[in-house]
Amino acid sequence: MSAVGNHDQRYPGWRSAMTAAMVSYQPYPGWRLATSWAAAGATDLGKHGKPMPLLEVRDLRLEYATDRGPLPAVDGVSLDLEERGQALGIIGESGSGKTSLAIALMRLLPRNATLTGGSMRLGGEDIGALSDEEFRRQVRWSRMAMVFQGAMHSLNPVIRVGEQVAERLRADGISKSAADARVADLLSRVGLPRGTASRYPHELSGGMKQRVSIARGLVQDPPVLLMDEPFAALDALTRDEMQRLLADVWRATRKTVIYVTHNVAEAVYLADRVVVMSPHPGTVKAEIKIELPRPRDPLSVEFLECQKELLRYLGHDANANEPVN
Ligand SMILES: Nc1ncnc2c1ncn2[C@@H]1O[C@H](COP(=O)(O)OP(=O)(O)O)[C@@H](O)[C@H]1O
Ligand SMILES: [Mg+2]
Repeated sequence: MSAVGNHDQRYPGWRSAMTAAMVSYQPYPGWRLATSWAAAGATDLGKHGKPMPLLEVRDLRLEYATDRGPLPAVDGVSLDLEERGQALGIIGESGSGKTSLAIALMRLLPRNATLTGGSMRLGGEDIGALSDEEFRRQVRWSRMAMVFQGAMHSLNPVIRVGEQVAERLRADGISKSAADARVADLLSRVGLPRGTASRYPHELSGGMKQRVSIARGLVQDPPVLLMDEPFAALDALTRDEMQRLLADVWRATRKTVIYVTHNVAEAVYLADRVVVMSPHPGTVKAEIKIELPRPRDPLSVEFLECQKELLRYLGHDANANEPVN
């Protein structure tokens, strides 16, 4: 593991063997047939045939209007994701702006929030320059999707879960039979039994509902998936199983994942790099590369050393074993 510190530093190894199979960059118009899962292994190319960073965020700033005046929650954050298939963990204590950063990227801001600065490029395109309507049509959900904190609680109780997962496909004009097939495939990929699509949320356990929420995020096959503490509300066993399964799904589909957590072990287990945020206002305190082989053994000495190092960055006593929130 090494502290990168300067987050402008390029990620090594992005010219992988995959370059041979590269496809030129194209926006993701809704979902593409099953071939997109395979094509997802390719690296996006710019106009001149050079791989371009998938997501580039510069100096992002978000502020909330409050009774006590403006509250800067994200204060000049820069992130780089060079290629598909990377997992970037974002970790930090409560209130360090992790959720604010994610909703800023998705442009899903509450009324009292304003983006006060920064730029965002996705696949080389300046998505910060898009109008809200263009962003909604061209980017949100189809090229960058998000699984919200506590997402499993926001399923509609009176609609079958399959329909809820299919919703955005249907809104895109995909036929019912194609959408149903896609949803059945996705639900099985996230480890749900056959027949789940026709069940209502109250018939499912918390873990199953969370899998449904993750399937909703994946339904349009977005190259970038943001997840905000997706397992925080699950029991320890379900969480372990979901972490393993998700890591497999991401790798198989070459998703680029930005993953918010306050669980240090989860960050080490899932991420290739971890950004540590500090609060008041939210800034990047450190950026750490996790150099461990996969699959990772959470009990290995190297794993535990990474965990200790992250805890130190968070300002916690690495030997005290205290929970990090
Ligand atoms: N809608 C809001 N209005 C005012 N302040 C907010 C709002 N949402 C979050 N905040 C504040 O912004 C800061 C960052 O919050 P948040 O992004 O939720 O942090 P995290 O996800 O890391 O816990 C906190 O101080 C929080 O109280
Ligand atoms: Mg949060």
